[in-house]
Amino acid sequence: MKPKVLVTRKIPQEIVEKIEAVCTVEMWEEEEMPIPREVLEKKIVDAEGLFCLLTETVDSALLDKAKKLKVVSNMAVGYNNIDIEAAKQRGITVTNTPGVLTETTADLTFALIMATSRRLIEASRYLHNGEWKTWSPMQLTGQDIFGATMGIIGMGRIGEAVAKRAKGFNMEILYHNRNHRPELESKLGVQYVEVDELLQRSDFVVVMTPYTKETVNLIAERELSLMKKSAILINTARGGIVNEEALYRALKNNEIWAAGLDVFETEPVSLDNPLLSLPNVVALPHIGSASIKTRLKMAELAADNLIKGVTNQKPKNVVV
Ligand code: GLV
Repeated sequence: MKPKVLVTRKIPQEIVEKIEAVCTVEMWEEEEMPIPREVLEKKIVDAEGLFCLLTETVDSALLDKAKKLKVVSNMAVGYNNIDIEAAKQRGITVTNTPGVLTETTADLTFALIMATSRRLIEASRYLHNGEWKTWSPMQLTGQDIFGATMGIIGMGRIGEAVAKRAKGFNMEILYHNRNHRPELESKLGVQYVEVDELLQRSDFVVVMTPYTKETVNLIAERELSLMKKSAILINTARGGIVNEEALYRALKNNEIWAAGLDVFETEPVSLDNPLLSLPNVVALPHIGSASIKTRLKMAELAADNLIKGVTNQKPKNVVV
């Protein structure tokens, strides 16, 4: 009998077929609505594999319901939605999709750098609102990217890909990371500094760390107060790494210049979130990896990991 797997969102048909060649697939067919928790709890009971997204919280209570689960395959590189320890204790493999989304997420990070520094969204609204009456010297002026200093907090794959792009803009690149990356220092000329120095010197502070107990509120009031008044904060990692209340105050009081955010503490972000009321915030709905090619690659990799996990082979991207 084929192993039963649960897929928590509608995924492309070609990927479903690939999984169906080996497994019996039960799929939550909605595209715009996550699987309700009670449905997930019911369907997980006899599933051997779970293909899930970052919208599903896979905690110990859910894993306790699962009687046959061998693998949780997350279609994301980040896996803060999964209780890794709880999975490990129960002997359940957890996998993610690193590598395939690196360049796409770095592109989006750079798009936010450009949109915030040159006020693209604000300028476009200005035009559409009929406010453009004439050209004038200091109208909608922003910050330069070329030759500026970038500080990358979290120099993993995506941080490195952002640094490569920054080289093309002749930027000075500072970084902070759990480990020094001497090979990158010689290859890209990036310079390791402590977080405070990075915050003080950078024109663009780019948050690229995983979201863990150690990185919750990594950027809060004190850290924001160290940044230059003209500096821009970019977060394409996870919402909770930057404290939103502190960020709001810093932006509102012009203590920093702008922020580009693809991620929020609570997603989807509420329209009442005060950050959305600020003209110097560019906000996006968590689209870092959202190119057609990359999302297909992520789904395919997650499917491979799932299939390997339920057929007792070692998946390519094991977290635990
Ligand atoms: C997206 O945020 C991911 O972690 O892949």
